[in-house]
Amino acid sequence: MTQLNVSKRHLKNKKEIEKIIDARDYVIEKKNKGIMFHEARPDIKKIYIEVSTRCNLNCITCIRHSWSLEHKDMSLELFEELVQQLDTFSNLKKVVIGGLGEPFMNPDIMKMTELIKNKGYEVKITTNGMLLNRSIFEKLVSLNVDELVISIDSFQEEEFENIRKGGELKELKEKLLQLKDIKEEEETIFPRVSMEFVLMESNRDQLNLLSEKARDLGVLNILVTNLLPYREKMTDEILYGQGEEELDLPIKFWSTPIEGLSTMCTMDMPDMNWNADRQCDFINADACVITVEGEVAPCYALMHSYTYYIFGREKIVKSHSFGSIREESLEGIWTSPDYVKFRDRVREYSFPSYQDCKINDNCSYARENQDCWGNIPSCADCLWAQSIVRCP
Ligand SMILES: C[S@@+](CC[C@H](N)C(=O)[O-])C[C@H]1O[C@@H](n2cnc3c(N)ncnc32)[C@H](O)[C@@H]1O
Ligand code: SF4
Ligand code: SF4
Repeated sequence: MTQLNVSKRHLKNKKEIEKIIDARDYVIEKKNKGIMFHEARPDIKKIYIEVSTRCNLNCITCIRHSWSLEHKDMSLELFEELVQQLDTFSNLKKVVIGGLGEPFMNPDIMKMTELIKNKGYEVKITTNGMLLNRSIFEKLVSLNVDELVISIDSFQEEEFENIRKGGELKELKEKLLQLKDIKEEEETIFPRVSMEFVLMESNRDQLNLLSEKARDLGVLNILVTNLLPYREKMTDEILYGQGEEELDLPIKFWSTPIEGLSTMCTMDMPDMNWNADRQCDFINADACVITVEGEVAPCYALMHSYTYYIFGREKIVKSHSFGSIREESLEGIWTSPDYVKFRDRVREYSFPSYQDCKINDNCSYARENQDCWGNIPSCADCLWAQSIVRCP
């Protein structure tokens, strides 16, 4: 927690307050019971960068279907501008090249990866894998990229191709085996390969097979997420909120030998029920998201505008940007009063829970991402904060 509660009694001791204010930068907020000092420091630890919203596939699950936005790439110029600014953030360790699109659609992706890797950050790239080839693998290996997260929603060919339209499972498997060979030749474990699986009614039978199939392809970790349905009809595909404590799984951990050592691999499952404990992985990780346009959003959930269905209830999400790196520095945006206060509000999770509200069907606030406590944006209905929907 980066906030300090100072009572009225405390406030009388002016010298003490001055000592605090001198020592650090704070955003000061007047509250009923005193004044709140929110720490405002350049303490980003993780950055997600969306380098393209274009894609070579047309997955039936993809939330991009609910956008009316023009799909585009981040320019190399904007990326370079961003990379230059990252020096300000001494705590920054991890960069995830991802977002809502296919990163390898950006013709400058390798140059961008090199720029970011040369800065010494841990780099993870999320991809559908279909555009990868030997020369890209060789480059990723030579750059020592830390992790590639490949999306695979089924190990059954027809089902894979029905979900990930335009993709081909056989070809993807061949590519992953090629990467495995290249890593063996180069005697490296990098990039480590992980996999993301969107769990639905139609592919739930695949869960039992995942660890075995993934092991053959050199996958070390499997992140299972639930589906965020963007059409009412898709709510038939969701498996959460049905009172199921845990899905029936034969194995969640397995080990794979890597360079003679046994490495523990994991299958990381989402929560399946709405509950009182709400935690935001983006805010808790001191992370932010930079969209393809250079907007700074707090998370994937708020980076674009879209519609989804939460337990059958329609929700219209309006994107939320705290500023654009085209106009201001990332440091200025990150330490701006609105963003600093928002992060502390999310840490406290100071939002209502519409799911627990009996009149949610008739509430105009619940229809959008704002709430009856005056928060815009509101995290009241967030499935990420429930660990029901997840991102790498
Ligand atoms: C939006 S994609 C972007 C990266 C890349 N194009 C890919 O498919 O891996 C990131 C991840 O979100 C998943 N995803 C797409 N639509 C989703 C939805 N409606 N609910 C939950 N996850 C979704 C994808 O399957 C993928 O694993
Ligand atoms: S590959 Fe990724 S971005 Fe492309 S349609 Fe599928 S989920 Fe969406
Ligand atoms: S709780 Fe959800 S909407 Fe709020 S910042 Fe976190 S991921 Fe975004």
